Amino acid sequence: MASTTMLQRLGERRIALLGTGKIGAILLQGLLKAGLSPKRVRGTVRHAERARLLSEQLAIPVGTDNRAAAREADVLLVSVKPQNVREVLEEIGAEVSPDKLIVSVAASVPTAFIEKTLGTAVPVVRAMPNTPCLVGTGMTGLCKGAHAAAEHLELARAMFDTVGRTVVVDEKHMDAVTGLSASGPAFVYIILESLAEAGVKVGLPRDVATLLSAQTLLGAATVALETGDHPALLKDAVTTPAGCTIDGILELEEGKLRVTLIKAVVKATARAKELMFEGQ
Ligand SMILES: NC(=O)c1ccc[n+]([C@@H]2O[C@H](COP(=O)([O-])OP(=O)(O)OC[C@H]3O[C@@H](n4cnc5c(N)ncnc54)[C@H](OP(=O)(O)O)[C@@H]3O)[C@@H](O)[C@H]2O)c1
Repeated sequence: MASTTMLQRLGERRIALLGTGKIGAILLQGLLKAGLSPKRVRGTVRHAERARLLSEQLAIPVGTDNRAAAREADVLLVSVKPQNVREVLEEIGAEVSPDKLIVSVAASVPTAFIEKTLGTAVPVVRAMPNTPCLVGTGMTGLCKGAHAAAEHLELARAMFDTVGRTVVVDEKHMDAVTGLSASGPAFVYIILESLAEAGVKVGLPRDVATLLSAQTLLGAATVALETGDHPALLKDAVTTPAGCTIDGILELEEGKLRVTLIKAVVKATARAKELMFEGQ
């Protein structure tokens, strides 16, 4: 359903993916899977050699000329590192007009910076996806800039809906989205790996331990999403009085798992505020 909406909203528009790196390629694959014609999208990277490789791998034209890509597209998806956003915007500035839409997934870079650098009243939507977009279970926070209308936000949202869930937030929350759900998969993989190690420690074969760990995280997250119940309530349902789970919970509390995770997100959020100023 979501992909029909995306294709309907997109109409005849063409997409340029400026920066076809890790997240760019993930989003691209999701959009193609959702039915976007490869003829309507092209990508760019910095290095010609990488462009050649990606053209073959992704079966879309990938080059190094941002300006040409921007000229031919209606939706410009900016997915270079925060430190490279300015140079890309300066390169494409002459090709940008208010009838195009800029969607930026760069951490740390405010919509106002993009608008100011481009110097035209161009609609800008800022989005913060995460790597599970690769398998359609991504999480993307979005907000719109000063010149973007509801229809621009809805088009961008429909694109990210094809690769997972989306939520619209005030721009002041975008660094927090970055620290929680964009960095979050890395934190969760460490938890997943640790639980699997624990399984090995108590005698399980590694592949079985990894399966138990991953499916347990998936199951717990799915229940939280589907019931909407408070996580504490869900935890209580597992924790039989004087049973084994409460002993495990005691260890977690002693090891300060909660405060460690909270501090990890706080640090990542603070770091997200700094990124765009590096190398400028
Ligand atoms: N990774 C994530 O989980 C994630 C999640 C949400 C948002 N983001 C945001 O997405 C952006 C990209 O992150 P990433 O992890 O995908 O980084 P990445 O893998 O390093 O990708 C960056 C890409 O940008 C290309 N590039 C650099 N300068 C360029 C230029 N002047 N013109 C065109 N392309 C250029 C690079 O080309 P070469 O390959 O030739 O060097 C590379 O393909 C960042 O702003 C990040 O904050 C990332």
